Amino acid sequence: MSLAVVILAAGKGTRMRSQQPKVLHKLAGQPLLRHVLTTAQLLNPEKIIIVIGHGAPQIRAAFADEPNIQWVEQTQQLGTGHAVQQALPFIYESQKTLVLYGDVPLTNVETLKALVADCSEKHLALLTAVLDDATGYGRIVRDAQNQVQRIVEQKDASAAELEIREINTGILVAASTLLKQQLPLLKNNNAQGEYYLTDLIAAAVVQNVDIKTTFAKRPQEITGVNSRSQLAALERVHQRELAEALMDAGVTLADPNRIDIRGALSSGEDSFIDVDVVIEGNVTLGRNVRIGPFVHLINCSIADNSEIKSHSVIESAVISEHCTVGPFARLRPGTRLADHAKIGNFVETKQANIGEHSKINHLSYVGDALVGRDVNIGAGTITCNYDGANKHQTIIEDGVFVGSDTQLIAPVKIGRNSTIGAGSTINKDTAENSLTLSRVKQRSIDDWQRPQKKPDTNKSD
Ligand code: UD1
Ligand code: MG
Repeated sequence: MSLAVVILAAGKGTRMRSQQPKVLHKLAGQPLLRHVLTTAQLLNPEKIIIVIGHGAPQIRAAFADEPNIQWVEQTQQLGTGHAVQQALPFIYESQKTLVLYGDVPLTNVETLKALVADCSEKHLALLTAVLDDATGYGRIVRDAQNQVQRIVEQKDASAAELEIREINTGILVAASTLLKQQLPLLKNNNAQGEYYLTDLIAAAVVQNVDIKTTFAKRPQEITGVNSRSQLAALERVHQRELAEALMDAGVTLADPNRIDIRGALSSGEDSFIDVDVVIEGNVTLGRNVRIGPFVHLINCSIADNSEIKSHSVIESAVISEHCTVGPFARLRPGTRLADHAKIGNFVETKQANIGEHSKINHLSYVGDALVGRDVNIGAGTITCNYDGANKHQTIIEDGVFVGSDTQLIAPVKIGRNSTIGAGSTINKDTAENSLTLSRVKQRSIDDWQRPQKKPDTNKSD
């Protein structure tokens, strides 16, 4: 039997107190629903159906890049059973159906694979958990032979049933034929006046379908988000998991509780990441890379033996081996550093290729620039790349020395091995091996008397 996945995401999420639908709130930089969808896609289902209601247009817009989702609108939220029923027209008899929840983001794909494997025409697979405090959850009611008989919701449970600590996670896999037969028969004569998906269990037992249960291995796999506080708690749990995976891969973390990965970070062995580093998008580190404290890395790659010193921000840049960047450097999109390049404090680069062994050590802006190898760019050098309408390129050839406090007015080319004297404004190309200066000639006036302050007669101290 092939697989259909139904993700329920129609609820309002009242306790989030938000204009944004709950499932669009982010965990590790991704909407909650994105986590669920990614997990669902890893199961290679024939179909993914997402049931939406509150905030439907916003949710659809956020997933506009996903052409293969069947969206279904549940205009009134009449219960989980009613929600799955809305998806039935899009599910084939030959499929089994996995039900997931848009606000339960961290279920492990292996857990779900096992659950899917447990389901057949004659078996319904249910993910359960045993909790110390089961308050609020549906309880799993078993008979004397330990067979599951039904699920009772908290609000409908007797005092004895409330003592049960095995709970319904809500995640289940059932034969689609069973769903198509039984969901239309659900009644809402219960404490909440809802059509409960959980009533499917008792109905299945009557049909001689066996209920197979599996325990979730880790509590976060079944944890749903109902409030910002729960979201923050789950974020910490997830970040700790990501930190553990990095350490398992051979990365030293100064404090595994003080790293935030909002995307994907891969690293070679023996890299070191100091405290309060934030990672966004796809970031790749080579071996033996050092990331200093308070560094922000966004969609970039940093090759073996390079070091990023504290308080640097690096976005959409490629850094080769043995480079040093920072402290307080800003590498903007399109920056490429060749091996052994060095970028120092208060340097900003953008669309800039910096050649091997070249250095920009202090207080500079290098944008729209091609910088060759063994170039030394002095403190306070600015590539004036923007004329108010267009951007222009600066080319600095191999072996150039640019003195401090220089403006290079693009388009301009500084020839190989040439030197620019400090304090120059350069707007014409310079020849190879030349020295170019554009500052005013120094002059001195001897015995210069500075203006004197008048003596203040009223002053007492
Ligand atoms: C449900 C289960 C309960 C289980 C718990 C686990 C039922 C009747 N109860 O209870 O046994 O222990 O989850 O968290 O299924 N939703 C819709 N449309 C609806 C109703 C709900 O899309 O009409 C979505 C919600 O957005 C939410 C999810 O389904 O993501 C669960 O709904 P909720 O009302 O929170 O169910 P619980 O009462 O928590
Ligand atoms: Mg709930």
